[in-house]
Amino acid sequence: MKIFLDTANIEEIKEAVSYGVVDGVTTNPSLIAKENRDLKSTIKEICDIVQGPVSAEVIATDLEGMLKEARELAKLDENVVVKIPFTEEGLKATYILTQEGIDVNMTLIFSPNQALLACKAGARYISPFAGRLDDIGHNGLDIVLACQEIVINYDFDTEVIAASIRHPMHVQEAALNGVDIATIPFKVLKQLFKHPLTDIGLEKFLADWEKATKNK
Ligand code: E4P
Repeated sequence: MKIFLDTANIEEIKEAVSYGVVDGVTTNPSLIAKENRDLKSTIKEICDIVQGPVSAEVIATDLEGMLKEARELAKLDENVVVKIPFTEEGLKATYILTQEGIDVNMTLIFSPNQALLACKAGARYISPFAGRLDDIGHNGLDIVLACQEIVINYDFDTEVIAASIRHPMHVQEAALNGVDIATIPFKVLKQLFKHPLTDIGLEKFLADWEKATKNK
């Protein structure tokens, strides 16, 4: 499974890239707004750090506006993937941009049927949101897996990004079930490291070593 980092924070991205596990980055308007920075310069800086796709989302919601912003974003770097929200206008934009050779990540996907339409319109990536579905009493991961099944059934040239990841179990379940990609907040990535037995084990190894070397 590929791991994307779900953040626009440069320090987090640099740190995660140094672990050697980051295949790409996703951002959204909320994440960019949190950094208090300009969208384009932030995306450019991320592209300089990460060797892989970097999703940058349009703000416009009308077709012409989305196309204009998407074409500008795509010019920033060859690794930019334009994120387009799943709406009727968004679907039209995805179809047009894909034909122009611009990779699209269709976002705000909450049902397998939305995923099917996004794939058919040519989306390179689709982002079903696990956590936000959990929030309203659904099983978000089940929807992600259903989206992945549709991609496999029809051999779409689309990768599924498990998005809105809230905890390590989301990551584990996505990986065990063969989801193409999970986009993970930095906090959750750090949680993946943690196991109490690793800490206890290391402490014991070092204590035993110290005891043995002291007695020599
Ligand atoms: C990524 O593509 C999504 O925008 C992001 O994962 C949404 O996460 P959230 O539901 O935690 O805001």
